[in-house]
Amino acid sequence: MNRAVAERPDEPVIERVLFSEGQIRARIQSLAAEISQDYAGADLVMAGILKGAQLFTCDLARSLRVPVSVDFLSLSRYKRSPQTRVVEITQDLEASIAGRDLLLVEDIVDTGLTLHYLIQQLTERAPRSISVCSLLDRSALRLADIPLRYAGFHVNEEFLVGYGLDYRERFREAPCISVLSREGWASPAE
Ligand code: PRP
Repeated sequence: MNRAVAERPDEPVIERVLFSEGQIRARIQSLAAEISQDYAGADLVMAGILKGAQLFTCDLARSLRVPVSVDFLSLSRYKRSPQTRVVEITQDLEASIAGRDLLLVEDIVDTGLTLHYLIQQLTERAPRSISVCSLLDRSALRLADIPLRYAGFHVNEEFLVGYGLDYRERFREAPCISVLSREGWASPAE
């Protein structure tokens, strides 16, 4: 266990590395190979959902062997309760998706509600297809059925940071995915 020593008492503490940089790179290569095969001859638009999916979207895109338009969108999430979670697009795609094959890219899918509401809105733009690729899949928390076609790793309910995932905007830039110590993070209510 590579337990980092906190420099300040209120610093979040990394408990252990869950997926190393090499493991993530290898998994992305194999996801990209699968996607390249499935989307051969398609008009692929890959849309990363900010902020968490930034690194994954870019690394995935550069491993593809098919032409792709890479785009991003940003959402504001109103978390009343999981069932009434409302999602609003605050930074929209530049690309038109009408008649094209849209692959939404996420860092993690938990309840699936973010994607459920987003897909409802994007469907109105008449893409030819919509699928989802997520680096992490926390399916134990799933509340909505979503078209998760590609999942990098299945994970449990530990608090994860790194490679796009944050704790209060920290750790997004880390090259690996780590488990944050229970002692090191405050619940969202705090
Ligand atoms: C995370 C993640 C997904 C969403 C998944 O985003 O990137 O977009 O939560 O949750 P769900 O499946 O329960 O809807 P977050 O709100 O942490 O924003 P961020 O990507 O900017 O970190």
